[in-house]
Amino acid sequence: MLKLAERMGRAKPSAIMLVAEKAKKLKAEGRDIISFSIGVPNFLPGEHVYAAVRDALAKDSGQYGSNRGADALLDAFLAHIERAGFTGYTRKNVSTGIGAKHVLFNLAEALLDPGDVIVFPTPYWTSYMDIADIVGATVRTLPCPPEQNYKLTPAQLDAALPGAKVFLFNNPSNPTGMVYSPDEVAAIAQVLAKYPDLWIITDDIYHRMVFDDLGYRNFVQVRPELRDRTIFVDSLSKTYGMPGWRVGFMAGPESVAQALTNLNSNHITNIPEAVTAAAVAALTGPQDVPAQKNLEFQAKRDQVLAMLDSIPGVVCPRPQGAFYVFPDISCAFGKSHNGRKIENDVDFCNALLDAKGVACVPGSAFGEPRALRISYTCPTPQLPEGLKRFREFFAELA
Ligand SMILES: Cc1ncc(COP(=O)(O)O)c(C=O)c1O
Repeated sequence: MLKLAERMGRAKPSAIMLVAEKAKKLKAEGRDIISFSIGVPNFLPGEHVYAAVRDALAKDSGQYGSNRGADALLDAFLAHIERAGFTGYTRKNVSTGIGAKHVLFNLAEALLDPGDVIVFPTPYWTSYMDIADIVGATVRTLPCPPEQNYKLTPAQLDAALPGAKVFLFNNPSNPTGMVYSPDEVAAIAQVLAKYPDLWIITDDIYHRMVFDDLGYRNFVQVRPELRDRTIFVDSLSKTYGMPGWRVGFMAGPESVAQALTNLNSNHITNIPEAVTAAAVAALTGPQDVPAQKNLEFQAKRDQVLAMLDSIPGVVCPRPQGAFYVFPDISCAFGKSHNGRKIENDVDFCNALLDAKGVACVPGSAFGEPRALRISYTCPTPQLPEGLKRFREFFAELA
């Protein structure tokens, strides 16, 4: 029997995709499905993006491009991050990839040898675990339960960092939607400053989606000395409604940006010209669509929280960003729905999907099996109906 490489034994298909696939299949069979599962923003970028692509296609050289990213794209990204408070970065500090997922994968390859320790909080975005597994890193997760608002405490981090090579932080968070306040970011940065041999990756692809005027901060803004070892990861996927266009970025030390550029030269070569044009247009064009969507998501967050608050036993820390809510639904475990026993989060999500046609992702996909994730970007008219069915399902538990 011919064998695949050992690392492929560790590469699992994304648990999020499995739920989405089941929901898609039921929909194809004619079921009325409301999807709260996949993390897509569900809006399109403005017409200026399509116009830029048409223009680029008319002039497309058909040639290979830059491994780092076209100059126009790097410059557009630099201006974009300057607006978020990252000043003094040059083209040498940045690199691009086929989405933030690819950038994160490249970072894992560039920074982690087999057995090196990577630390990140739980709940975590599913791919962190899978990517770390594939490169053979040793994962140290830090449990952040709902009782601590799904947020990492400085003491918890301090205890976990000795011997670690990389700390991976995600703010705002997928799956919890939690956002660290400027003070909380400063307190964590203070701990990070104590570990000079530690790389810090901040996956902040939702940094433009922050509600309640809370504001966004990165470690480098509160502790400039962390800049030499902090890598900021960004993406067009969520902010600009462009998940399928596959454009991701990083900004950080020159050595890291160069390493990613070298990996690109062996993996992807370059981001295609037409996609580059779309990305430049999104970053430099009118910013009213992302701003307007942010307001819409904040209102939807309120609707979801109001529904969850009305269910006795459900505990839900209040998210202040991204487009996810992550309630603790463990009060349902041990109960039954129409005679179907619910032992855990996976049973809950399967029963909810089968009985009510509502798709959510089990929390175990994110390392927290007491919860589930609701992604609330579905078309606005579907939201109240999906929430009504969710509440009905709970009421029918016995
Ligand atoms: C926290 C987080 N990081 C990275 C990604 C990957 O984004 P991209 O579409 O740019 O690959 C996602 C996508 O869901 C995410 O939620």
